[in-house]
Amino acid sequence: MIITVDGPAAAGKGTISGYLSQKYKLAYFDTGMVYRAVGLQMVLVGEDLSNKDAALKIARALTFPQMMELSVHPDFRSDIGSNAASIVSAYSEVRAALLDMQKNFALNPVFADGTAAKGVIYDGRDTGTVICPQADLKLFVTASTEVRAERRYKEFLQKGIITSYKKVLDDMKARDERDSNRSAAPLKPADDAIVIDTSKLDIEAVLAYIVPLVEAKL
Ligand code: DC
Repeated sequence: MIITVDGPAAAGKGTISGYLSQKYKLAYFDTGMVYRAVGLQMVLVGEDLSNKDAALKIARALTFPQMMELSVHPDFRSDIGSNAASIVSAYSEVRAALLDMQKNFALNPVFADGTAAKGVIYDGRDTGTVICPQADLKLFVTASTEVRAERRYKEFLQKGIITSYKKVLDDMKARDERDSNRSAAPLKPADDAIVIDTSKLDIEAVLAYIVPLVEAKL
């Protein structure tokens, strides 16, 4: 069983994917991590984010264990990491270099502790269109920019990160713009994806809608 969950930042993809992964014992690949890992390395070595060749070199050398190691860095999920990931993810050569790592995960899906899983949940922007077009179920989860910025702002506050709603909203708009308008794998639902707008739904309502869709595929 392969499920793809695509959509813009803070639409609820991570929560949905985490829930489905636990409930149906599926391995979970948050594909944004590959771009965060490349972007963060660029920042850490002091490379200008406009240097496509440097990003490509880092992408070609990226391994799964290295990505996991970088994922605990404080800037992996901060606005610095998010911005860097969004910029490097627009380079088509960087995307191509990271393709096999993402696609291959479905061939031999494993949990974090290395045990085998019965299938995979991919979470990202292009997992239903590019990474795994053969998925059994494709979800495209979205919400208005304001609602997503509000959710992200609350997350930051809970983590003690000092910022303003306005900054989070502006960053979100810039990232949406880049992710949707880049030429390489722009953010858009697969033709056969089920689109879910979570703007006015709480997480319980979203899951209550999705679970029967998964059950129908089992
Ligand atoms: O899902 P996320 O916020 O961790 O993703 C970080 C960035 O990576 C996002 O701005 C777009 C990019 N991304 C992508 O281009 N394709 C994916 N499959 C996942 C993420």
